Amino acid sequence: MNENPVSSAPAAIRTVSLVKTYSLGKKNIEVLKGVDITVSQREIVALLGASGTGKSTLLHIIGGLDTPDSGTVECGGHQLHAMKERDLSGFRNRCVGFVFQSYHLLPELTALENVCLPGRIARRPAGEVRDRAAGMLEKVGLGHRLDHRPYEMSGGEQQRTSIARALINDPQFLLADEPTGNLDSKTGRGIFELMVGLRDSLGLTMVVATHDRSLAGTTDRIIYLDDGRVDTGTLSSDG
Ligand SMILES: Nc1ncnc2c1ncn2[C@@H]1O[C@H](COP(=O)(O)OP(=O)(O)OP(=O)(O)O)[C@@H](O)[C@H]1O
Ligand SMILES: [Mg+2]
Repeated sequence: MNENPVSSAPAAIRTVSLVKTYSLGKKNIEVLKGVDITVSQREIVALLGASGTGKSTLLHIIGGLDTPDSGTVECGGHQLHAMKERDLSGFRNRCVGFVFQSYHLLPELTALENVCLPGRIARRPAGEVRDRAAGMLEKVGLGHRLDHRPYEMSGGEQQRTSIARALINDPQFLLADEPTGNLDSKTGRGIFELMVGLRDSLGLTMVVATHDRSLAGTTDRIIYLDDGRVDTGTLSSDG
């Protein structure tokens, strides 16, 4: 019997026979060759696999940043493979927060202003966005860094800021692409602990691409990608 407490929750993400090929000049690069994954609501899944196996490509498709050539991808009840760019963009803004290895914070803005930005882009009232941004920064442990610019913060603090920014519009999904790739192992562990805490308090569903096996082991489940396919031979649910 599976002891995973989230295993009985309905699927939040489901991909079936996902295929993605990039053309580069005359060359076709088959990146995803039929990927089937299911992620339950409130589950945190780590995506492991060698460089070039398609982790980022899969995250981009799940988050509506890219589209598959064939196969289906359903996220939070949305059939992303059948949606037009305008609807995909709405889905991204409302439902998904992205976190990247290199934070992608705007250097001239303070932590608070960086976190506010997606809320203002979504045209939400300034005061409401500011209060929520300050609350999110408090939640990620940066209540004392609101007025710091990125270069006045450590790498771990910058990543916490980018996580707060990813959550400003109250998404259902958090997708993180090597969020600890630029951090030392202790700071990286803190970031994973933070993500688990946010899942618990906000009910988020997360997919996290990483090269760090020991951090991957702290999530609910690991999905291994190998040469564009899920490697079921090593599929593990015990972390
Ligand atoms: N826009 C693109 N055009 C052409 N090829 C691409 C494009 N994006 C990715 N690729 C190729 O697709 C393959 C998979 O890339 P992807 O970034 O998904 O791998 P990854 O598993 O995330 O690797 P890493 O661990 O290094 O981040 C790589 O061979 C890459 O060169
Ligand atoms: Mg990648």
